[in-house]
Amino acid sequence: MEEVSYEIRGLSAEVEFETVSSLRRALKRLLVHPLVNYGPAGLTRALLRFGKSELAAANWADPGGWESMVISYRQNCSQVADRLLIHAGTMPMALRNRKRLGSFLIARLIEQARAGPVHVLCLGGGPGWVIQDALAQTRAPARATVVDLSAEALEFGRQMAARRGLAERIRFIQANVSDLHQYLHDQANVVKMLGLCEYLPDEQIVSVAGAVREMMLDGAPMVFNSLSRAHGTDRFFRRVFGLHMIHRSPGEVCGLMHRAGFRDFAVHPEPLGVYHVIVGRRAADAGRD
Ligand SMILES: C[S@@+](CC[C@H](N)C(=O)[O-])C[C@H]1O[C@@H](n2cnc3c(N)ncnc32)[C@H](O)[C@@H]1O
Repeated sequence: MEEVSYEIRGLSAEVEFETVSSLRRALKRLLVHPLVNYGPAGLTRALLRFGKSELAAANWADPGGWESMVISYRQNCSQVADRLLIHAGTMPMALRNRKRLGSFLIARLIEQARAGPVHVLCLGGGPGWVIQDALAQTRAPARATVVDLSAEALEFGRQMAARRGLAERIRFIQANVSDLHQYLHDQANVVKMLGLCEYLPDEQIVSVAGAVREMMLDGAPMVFNSLSRAHGTDRFFRRVFGLHMIHRSPGEVCGLMHRAGFRDFAVHPEPLGVYHVIVGRRAADAGRD
């Protein structure tokens, strides 16, 4: 896979991240991860079923789907198994870090955009929780379009937007991101593709990013993420949850976005090293390779 160069930014002091002490990190690596990764998957599934784990049920119904994401974001689960997985699991913590970092960066990009009101296009946005957090963090005039396959995710998002007083500013569209040109015709000033690339093959990422590029002006930002194996539980996710994520380094995912016509990548880490949130810029037609 082609890798391209990028600029790595420091950990943002303005974002309230969740972190893990070095002792807890070592204990997880030496004890917890081998146990969950190599223990009998059938028994683990049975225990999660017996413990009525909502996170496991959501993943079995739709591996890595919007509902498991919302359960990890909300953190108000009643079952013991879920409390353990969601509060202590590296992946749910990293997901919350990604959400906080993503919404912080998008709010700043909205403020920096010269256009007004800014239109943020969220691809595979689920209920649009990240963009709702971003809109709530800035006074700059902005509206958003959230595109997702799932009618349930969009309905959950509509209700959340109504509660937060954002209903007038967000349009929810149930559609496939691969067919953008069939239903979207307005310009996007900021594009967000968080939590999507790890489920798409290389060629689909290039094709979706290439299509959305046609709706952007030169220099407009695209926000996406990499995913590393630093969470240490890929084998557990595959065997117990049936969740197969595609891990790509920042250089690899930037390489795909470069093929689609983006450049000038700024890579923002979260402290667990699982996700990097990346901002790329639309290249001018003449600047494309
Ligand atoms: C892991 S969730 C991420 C949700 C949200 N972006 C976030 O970070 O909180 C992935 C979402 O992508 C959506 N999705 C996956 N493939 C899609 C496609 N081809 N077109 C539209 N949505 C898609 C799923 O329905 C799901 O809601």
